[in-house]
Amino acid sequence: MIETATLGSDLKICRIINGMWQVSGGHGHITPQKAISEMDLYHKAGLTSWDMADIYGPAEGFFGKFRQNLEKSGHDLSGLVGLTKFVPNPVPMNRTIVERAIKNSILHMNVSSLDLVQFHWWDYDDPRYFDALYHLTALRDEGKIKHIGLTNFDTIRMQMMLDKGFVIVSNQVQYSIIDQRPQMEMEEFCKKHNIHLLAYGTLGGGLLSERFLGSDDPTRIDLNTYSLQKYHNMIDAWGGWTLFQKLLHTLDKIAKKHHTSIPNVATRFILDKPQVAGVIIGARLGIAQHIEQNKQTFSLNLDSDDYSAIQEITSQANDLFDVIGDCGSEYR
Ligand SMILES: NC(=O)c1ccc[n+]([C@@H]2O[C@H](COP(=O)([O-])OP(=O)(O)OC[C@H]3O[C@@H](n4cnc5c(N)ncnc54)[C@H](OP(=O)(O)O)[C@@H]3O)[C@@H](O)[C@H]2O)c1
Repeated sequence: MIETATLGSDLKICRIINGMWQVSGGHGHITPQKAISEMDLYHKAGLTSWDMADIYGPAEGFFGKFRQNLEKSGHDLSGLVGLTKFVPNPVPMNRTIVERAIKNSILHMNVSSLDLVQFHWWDYDDPRYFDALYHLTALRDEGKIKHIGLTNFDTIRMQMMLDKGFVIVSNQVQYSIIDQRPQMEMEEFCKKHNIHLLAYGTLGGGLLSERFLGSDDPTRIDLNTYSLQKYHNMIDAWGGWTLFQKLLHTLDKIAKKHHTSIPNVATRFILDKPQVAGVIIGARLGIAQHIEQNKQTFSLNLDSDDYSAIQEITSQANDLFDVIGDCGSEYR
């Protein structure tokens, strides 16, 4: 059984979403043909929701080509969902610039309307993000976009957007056993306003897996993807490698008790958080895939002993909300 969730009034997504940052460079050599044909394995397995961005290199184009292939072979496209992002540089956010970006994504993804546009902005001191939201809203009303979401915005800015009347269905943020900042303020706020969270970094780029269980603190050479490097830094801020090993051993015990794996426990832990609609798991298309193993998350139930054991470790760590700030602060 594939768990699903609904964003806004009608956007049905799989609760495990395939993440495409991994095809944009820094994650090993991606061969386009191989990558696109591997998307079929995910689709056939029922994992039919994809997360990408205008800044993820060929990702939107891979999605478009994959969609075209499905269409040509007469497949039903109704379950296929493409969530993209609009990540502009700090330039004037006028209609021409915003519309051009959205039209490019439409073209690359081979759709007539974008399912979800998740908007990112680098600098809160530059208020032109409200202009961007204004034009995104107009494009949504004209049918070019079905829903507007955010990525890496903090709770204060979300409140400001709602105060101005913008309708937002989701915020994509880092959320993992290591980084539980969303539950400090954002979760309650989102609940009140019917906004969902989409979580990334849930597997720490692969650090939260058996591969690193019992291993020494990895060197730069061992951390051979941008993703591993990013989340290794997060572990340093959280409490360091020794505490992380304690966590991995605890997760391994829980996994063994349920006849499953550490990634499944880490994913289920976040899927069970209030307001989380889905967890985005990075896919190094054509290099490595964990489809069947990750689907096992859907049949896993964690019990109160499991939560207590995890809490016993995380309570020894630094509070990343204090160290970094609310979600997205790491980008600013
Ligand atoms: N909005 C943002 O700012 C932002 C930032 C980061 C990511 N994202 C989104 O989130 C997605 C996820 O990226 P992430 O960097 O957070 O990575 P992640 O999902 O935490 O980790 C992905 C890696 O975990 C490993 N993995 C997956 N399933 C596994 C399993 N069952 N067993 C063992 N290892 C497993 C794989 O490593 P191997 O390939 O080595 O096997 C995979 O490459 C991105 O693609 C992107 O869509 C968004």
